[in-house]
Amino acid sequence: MKAVLCRKYGEPDDLEVGEIDPPALTPDGVRVQVDAAALNFPDILMVQGKYQYKPDFPFSPGMECVGRVTEVGADVPDIQPGQRVIAHPWVGCFAEQVVAPRQVVFPVPDHVGDAAAAGFGLTYGTVYHALIDRGGLQPGETLLVYGAAGGVGLAAVEMGKLLGATVIAAAGSPEKLAVCESYGADHLVDYSKEPVRERVKDLTGGRGADVIFDPVGGDMTDTTMRCINWDGRLLIVGFAAGRIAELPVNMILIKGCQVVGVAYQRFSRLQPAQSRANMAELMGWWAAGKLKPHVSMTFPLDKAVDAMKAIVNRKSTGQVVVTT
Ligand SMILES: NC(=O)c1ccc[n+]([C@@H]2O[C@H](COP(=O)([O-])OP(=O)(O)OC[C@H]3O[C@@H](n4cnc5c(N)ncnc54)[C@H](OP(=O)(O)O)[C@@H]3O)[C@@H](O)[C@H]2O)c1
Repeated sequence: MKAVLCRKYGEPDDLEVGEIDPPALTPDGVRVQVDAAALNFPDILMVQGKYQYKPDFPFSPGMECVGRVTEVGADVPDIQPGQRVIAHPWVGCFAEQVVAPRQVVFPVPDHVGDAAAAGFGLTYGTVYHALIDRGGLQPGETLLVYGAAGGVGLAAVEMGKLLGATVIAAAGSPEKLAVCESYGADHLVDYSKEPVRERVKDLTGGRGADVIFDPVGGDMTDTTMRCINWDGRLLIVGFAAGRIAELPVNMILIKGCQVVGVAYQRFSRLQPAQSRANMAELMGWWAAGKLKPHVSMTFPLDKAVDAMKAIVNRKSTGQVVVTT
């Protein structure tokens, strides 16, 4: 089968497209003929050797996909060949076939397009876990989202509105903020031009945001303790900017706030029943038209490197998808 291959850690340009044997079926595995796979920022970290999970070489990046089931393992009674599914096995989806453990495979209706389906699981699964399980976001609270036009950022804007929060979207250009506005953001902050701390204080009557969703890190994290409300929750989601900030613990005390880690992969491995329950609720919201995944770019498998460069160069909004 054709696959994008990482033979050593490096940059997206070091990836190859080649032919390899299809992966072996496991007893709890579901073989999926991949139609489309989503690209997430952690795919790039995995190729660079900076992600916490380090698969053996050669591996194909691609954490999640949509496609048809062609074969199931002996211990999989409830998924049949021919079913259309989304799957997030965390690696291997930039290939014509992938074998995913049953617990991360979910049937999807035929009317949902490939591009929208490919990136649904990991993005919305992360945001649900962040805002609800970890952040306890309540209706009427103020949610501040950094990197708000990115993959998880835009889903956080959308889900924040669905949960009844007032959403402040912070991103790096007017074009990106226009996308956030179209997903319901109440207030827009362009952090390439405006001081985030002052704007958030102005927008919240001096109190600061109740929940801050931070997938960017670096300078953005540095500002959070100055614009978080009493009893607020800072959700540490990622470090797209590269630098891992250090927080002044005295400010955590003074603000009476919590700094909360969000690790969706570990959560779904360590708490599979809760993770599947979350996904069931997300699928219900999706079927009811309450969630609309935004895909800004699609690339063929041969051009997966260009897809990665679009993310690295901050060109995309929402999700980026690779089709096989
Ligand atoms: N904790 C978890 O379980 C989990 C799950 C999924 C993703 N993540 C993490 O969340 C972060 C975002 O992932 P994603 O898939 O949403 O990525 P994405 O679509 O590329 O979004 C990242 C956003 O970060 C902003 N950004 C600021 N500085 C940047 C820089 N130097 N390089 C690239 N982007 C920069 C960009 O917006 P502006 O241009 O507007 O600043 C961009 O839209 C990553 O760190 C990823 O590892 C964590």
